[in-house]
Amino acid sequence: MHAIITGGSSGIGEALGRELARRGWAVSLLARRQDLVERIASELPKALGVACDVSDAASVRDAVRTAEEKFGPCDLAVANAGISVFNHAARFSLEDAERVLRVNVFGMLYLFDAVIPGMVARRSGRFAGIASIAGHRALPTSGPYSASKAAMQTLLEASRIELVPHGVGVSVINPGFVDTPIVSKNRFRMPFLLQAPEAARIIADGLERGKRVIEFPTPMSFLMRTVRILPTALYEWAMVPYARKSNR
Ligand SMILES: NC(=O)c1ccc[n+]([C@@H]2O[C@H](COP(=O)([O-])OP(=O)(O)OC[C@H]3O[C@@H](n4cnc5c(N)ncnc54)[C@H](OP(=O)(O)O)[C@@H]3O)[C@@H](O)[C@H]2O)c1
Repeated sequence: MHAIITGGSSGIGEALGRELARRGWAVSLLARRQDLVERIASELPKALGVACDVSDAASVRDAVRTAEEKFGPCDLAVANAGISVFNHAARFSLEDAERVLRVNVFGMLYLFDAVIPGMVARRSGRFAGIASIAGHRALPTSGPYSASKAAMQTLLEASRIELVPHGVGVSVINPGFVDTPIVSKNRFRMPFLLQAPEAARIIADGLERGKRVIEFPTPMSFLMRTVRILPTALYEWAMVPYARKSNR
């Protein structure tokens, strides 16, 4: 079985690559930092590191072709590469917002475009995207990031319904806080923080079981799903002090 994972050079992507390799998968790790993915791949029994920039459709297509030439058709594709940039609306950066949406949303769609025709033709395979519990409700100071994760959730849900008759599965993965470089700039205490290997085990279990939604840790999932049903006025009232503090 062959898994292709974008953003395999650090954090969740690296940990998931290691976890799937431990379970016997051939793993292709894609990322811009080729030296890192090659080093990680060299430590695994059946793995390949491929240079890839997910914000460039041709780069994703080429990387998938290289991976499939080595290990055969992809059985599992995980759109994991992602970035997060603080972006307060009062000091809005269009450039940062575009970068976040391009990597997180279009990066996923470029991988989708590269692997789905093959999966549909073979009537098998699974596509997964690492969205976030941050996609459940707008997070002030992180609007574009939060919007990118909501977009991923919606796109994945629609394609799951559409791909059922074609024998292709789709999973959306919504992690809470995981201790990786992406959250190292957070200056607040992150509730229910998980280590990347533990997150990877939960994700790999869910993917191997064909789960539609893999959301963890349970207390964080429960908290965000409760927050999601709060009336808009109440949610905004609760978040205004946070947004004001972050605007200093
Ligand atoms: N950590 C959390 O608390 C958390 C929570 C919810 C969701 N997530 C999501 O989980 C995913 C993985 O994040 P992480 O926590 O593991 O952070 P991370 O350690 O910073 O990993 C991000 C990965 O994305 C890759 N990447 C970034 N831009 C890229 C590009 N243009 N092309 C190809 N690869 C690119 C990076 O590789 P290169 O720099 O080498 O290209 C890196 O491997 C992200 O989508 C993130 O939004 C994380």
